[in-house]
Amino acid sequence: MPPKDSIANTFIVSLVLCIVCSLLVSGAAVSLKPRQKRNQELDQKRNIIEAASLSEDPKGLSGKEVEEIFDSQVTRQLLDIDSDNYVSEPDPSFDPRQAAKDDSLNVEITGSEFDIGFAKREQQTWVYLVKDTDGKIKKVVLPIYGMGLWGPLYGFVAIDSDFRTIQGLTFYEHKETPGLGGEVDNKLWKAKWVGKQIWEEVDGNKNIGDDEHLMVGVAKGAPLPEKAKYMVDGLSGATITSRGVDSMLNYWFSENGFGPYLKKLAAQQGDSDGSPNG
Ligand SMILES: Cc1cc2nc3c(=O)[nH]c(=O)nc-3n(C[C@H](O)[C@H](O)[C@H](O)COP(=O)(O)O)c2cc1C
Repeated sequence: MPPKDSIANTFIVSLVLCIVCSLLVSGAAVSLKPRQKRNQELDQKRNIIEAASLSEDPKGLSGKEVEEIFDSQVTRQLLDIDSDNYVSEPDPSFDPRQAAKDDSLNVEITGSEFDIGFAKREQQTWVYLVKDTDGKIKKVVLPIYGMGLWGPLYGFVAIDSDFRTIQGLTFYEHKETPGLGGEVDNKLWKAKWVGKQIWEEVDGNKNIGDDEHLMVGVAKGAPLPEKAKYMVDGLSGATITSRGVDSMLNYWFSENGFGPYLKKLAAQQGDSDGSPNG
């Protein structure tokens, strides 16, 4: 029998230890996956609730409370972005982020002057509607994303029932530096978005969905007084992240993004010609 501290024994013990540890780690990873997925879904729902101001303390909500608010107040629809139609009987497990990477489910981002740092985007995505008891849309929450400095930022923007005023903006995933680009999560900065107009109104015409009048964005420094209605001041020391947020808002509200959909919603809700009661 070889001595306990022989090379062969050391090798066998290390090998067994490696196998046992890797089995434990991969077992934990596999068994925790469904819980991770569920927590990611809950986090997204919490962000939608925050963007649409459906709770005073969205971060403090339990999973059950998130589900209750969602089930009672939010309707999810799968939107075909280019036709502006909802998909009937959508697959509930459809994942827009996966679709954006799948050449049979994505489209190239072309003809857009707003560079979000992605060459392709999904054709279909989930949109979230908050309706009143008469079925009228009070708020619509749209998913947005684009590149920051260190990677993509994924978030939601909530729009008011006039379909041209921002109600809230949140990011549920990004890699920006805490204290610099990470200030996109600062509630004071997020609060600045509430009430910002997306398109410029000219002679009573609201120009929803019209790129020529697209005004929303992030200014470098404080916006000029005439732009303050549409723009938020950039994050200091984080010009690249600020530019990323500016580009993504411009792209997703453009004619290539959700502009035509919001125009359609405004028309359906009787506000198509720009007059207050349309
Ligand atoms: C460690 C480190 C982290 C940084 N993180 C960010 C960031 O998250 N977002 C960003 O826009 N710039 C970040 N920057 C700064 C950029 O490199 C760049 O200098 C900055 O965007 C310029 O912004 P300013 O014109 O407001 O100074 C970081 C710089 C360093 C050294």
